Amino acid sequence: MKDSVETLNNKFQNATPEETILWFTKNFAGKITFSTSLGAEDQVITHILAGMSPPSEVFTLDTGRMFQETYDLLDITQKKYGLNVQVYFPDPAQVEQMVNSKGINLFYENIENRQFCCQIRKILPLKRALAGKEVWITGMRKEQSVTRANAAMVEWDPAYQIVKFNPLIAWTGEMVWQYINTWKIPVNDLHSKGYPSIGCLPCTRAVQPGEDVRSGRWWWELPEFKECGLHKKH
Ligand code: ADX
Ligand code: SF4
Repeated sequence: MKDSVETLNNKFQNATPEETILWFTKNFAGKITFSTSLGAEDQVITHILAGMSPPSEVFTLDTGRMFQETYDLLDITQKKYGLNVQVYFPDPAQVEQMVNSKGINLFYENIENRQFCCQIRKILPLKRALAGKEVWITGMRKEQSVTRANAAMVEWDPAYQIVKFNPLIAWTGEMVWQYINTWKIPVNDLHSKGYPSIGCLPCTRAVQPGEDVRSGRWWWELPEFKECGLHKKH
């Protein structure tokens, strides 16, 4: 990469997500990919990316344990934006072995089991999706959790050996929702039912008004452990 991560963070200090996304898609055509979980932030990025040329690859990781509402939104989004979202599945042999040796709901038993399940169902498919790419776009925001408070817009990810580009890193939740309402962007039906952050069904629950946005994810674990490994600092 020509410019260092620090140079890019300085260069884009006051830029809008539209400007930064356009710069990256032009400069890394064919080498950039966007991971969407169909979350509110991801829908904003999808909306921006969909109108850009050249088009960038968009993918989602289907763990096999997602909510029906998430599948419905995937379908609606693909149709609305004429997008071909690549869906990555875990290796069926690995899932079978894991479930048959540790149980169908192994993640509730202990943190090792939970991380193992995330490894098989998310991390290994993510590695396949990122292979051969130079830039990985995500919908991460600093405000989302203690583990993300020091994240930057552009980062080198040593675990995946890739430049991670988080265009909405500094946005507040309010900014995300304002953008969604202005542009009438489709969102997951679960958001209006108390689910601000949505992952796998067995590991996500609704939160009470005023509670932390990610408190419904892996709610039985301590906040500092609440990363599935996609965005862990290594
Ligand atoms: S997670 O690591 O705790 O699951 P979170 O739901 O906050 O992450 O989402 C942060 C970003 O990670 C999303 O904006 C998206 O880029 C990526 N991500 C999370 N889950 C998925 C998924 N299932 N498929 C693709 N990308 C995902
Ligand atoms: Fe498994 Fe839960 Fe991780 Fe999904 S979030 S991969 S069900 S442990």
